[in-house]
Amino acid sequence: MASNTKNNPVNVVVTGGAGNIAYSLLWRIAAGDVFGPEQPVALRLLEIPAAVGAAEGTAMELADSAMPLVASVDVTDDERKAFDGAQSAFLVGAKPRGKGESRADMLEANGKIFIGQGRAINDGAADDIRVLVVGNPANTNAYIAAKAAPDVPAERFNAMMRLDHNRAVSVLSGKVAEPSTSIERLCVWGNHGDTQFPDLTYAQVDGEPVEVDRNWYVDEFIPRIAGRGAEIIEVRGKSSAASAASAAVDHMRDWVQGTNGRWTTAAVPSTGEYGVDEGLMFGFPATAEDGQWRVVEGLELSDFQRERIDANIEALRAEAAVADKLF
Ligand SMILES: NC(=O)c1ccc[n+]([C@@H]2O[C@H](COP(=O)([O-])OP(=O)(O)OC[C@H]3O[C@@H](n4cnc5c(N)ncnc54)[C@H](O)[C@@H]3O)[C@@H](O)[C@H]2O)c1
Repeated sequence: MASNTKNNPVNVVVTGGAGNIAYSLLWRIAAGDVFGPEQPVALRLLEIPAAVGAAEGTAMELADSAMPLVASVDVTDDERKAFDGAQSAFLVGAKPRGKGESRADMLEANGKIFIGQGRAINDGAADDIRVLVVGNPANTNAYIAAKAAPDVPAERFNAMMRLDHNRAVSVLSGKVAEPSTSIERLCVWGNHGDTQFPDLTYAQVDGEPVEVDRNWYVDEFIPRIAGRGAEIIEVRGKSSAASAASAAVDHMRDWVQGTNGRWTTAAVPSTGEYGVDEGLMFGFPATAEDGQWRVVEGLELSDFQRERIDANIEALRAEAAVADKLF
């Protein structure tokens, strides 16, 4: 199937179309923030049957917004229909951990969702599909979807660590009292979970290495970034939604349009970089060029970095072992 051109709308699927993140994400996509100000979009909202009505309401509001780039909005609970010819997919819908449920129970419930969606992508999506998994546990859900789509190159599946990255940039920007745009070479290694490692080793402000107090870095900065999702829930009473949507926009825009050599963080399937098991969806420092992510390679790691990265490998390896049993 042909790639999108400036004239044809790009087919974009958002799962969890009735949810909180989608309520922000859809308008950002519709405004041209991902594919550019001249690229029309055909939006498809995938939901579970019980939430199709609510998604229809979101679609009605999109229509009422009369956004110039929106060629069409369709709502469905049929994943085959949603992913047929899809060129870009934000997999936002997921099953949260229920009361009394173990992490393995949650992985199993999500496994069913992401195996089904992975298969539908495998069978019907455009050859140049880009899939960004947002729904948690994002890294392992992306691993599952990629595994369920053996005919699609694994690199076409990513997980979202950009919110963690953006949080880290924002906190560092506050600490050094410089705008976030002056910060470069920051990355968040590993899993979108407790073990994630926001790394300031290579970080620069206006091209100069960052000098921060080691105790602040280890005892405040790292736990603050990893705990920010919980902090938002505590303060806001709901999980992050607009910031998650904004991070999803940043990730997909950079993947499509490139980063002009600037580092960011993307969770991509490992090909063995930095000793990460092949296939694990791992947050790496990355640049995007010509529509492809490139992991920044050849960095020397200290013992401290190695230990933190290894903790993430172990966490994702354990989740992958549970996920593998679902096939
Ligand atoms: N990676 C990140 O940084 C990050 C950040 C914030 C939130 N999240 C995750 O994003 C997900 C969505 O968050 P939200 O606030 O929008 O949640 P939400 O509960 O408001 O919406 C989720 C929607 O997904 C739908 N859904 C469930 N199963 C589905 C399926 N099989 N197919 C299609 N739709 C389905 C639900 O019906 C619901 O409408 C959660 O898993 C959340 O943990 C990830």
